[in-house]
Amino acid sequence: MALQARETAYCPYSGFAVGAALLAESGRIYTGGNIENAAYTPTNCAERTAFFKAVSEGERRFAAIAVAGGKAGETPVEFCAPCGVCRQVMREFCADDFKIVLAKADGVQIHTLAQLLPQSFSPANLAK
Ligand code: THU
Repeated sequence: MALQARETAYCPYSGFAVGAALLAESGRIYTGGNIENAAYTPTNCAERTAFFKAVSEGERRFAAIAVAGGKAGETPVEFCAPCGVCRQVMREFCADDFKIVLAKADGVQIHTLAQLLPQSFSPANLAK
């Protein structure tokens, strides 16, 4: 589904299409593509598109996300790992064991959020 979600990417400036498929604990899957902007900085990554769709539908707990990115119009040949901003958005809603699945044409790599964002700042820091 992440590979398929790349087709929804709006990426006229980079030509780099990313797709994400986010599995909520409810069992629902929310997809997203990157959405670029002529002013560049308002660009939203595919992962955050998927998260914001899900959270705005009432979801708060998540099990896993799959991500695929590469040259638009071609099947990705390299893994595309989430940027730092997206990892921090994941931290807001996800536990250490949240699974991050990187997908490309011929395989997947599976990481946890704790592996990709160690020593992180989280809601727990503000809870005391
Ligand atoms: N991008 C994502 O959507 N997710 C990532 O994990 C990395 C980067 C997007 C942002 C921008 O539209 C394009 O890829 C090139 O950086």
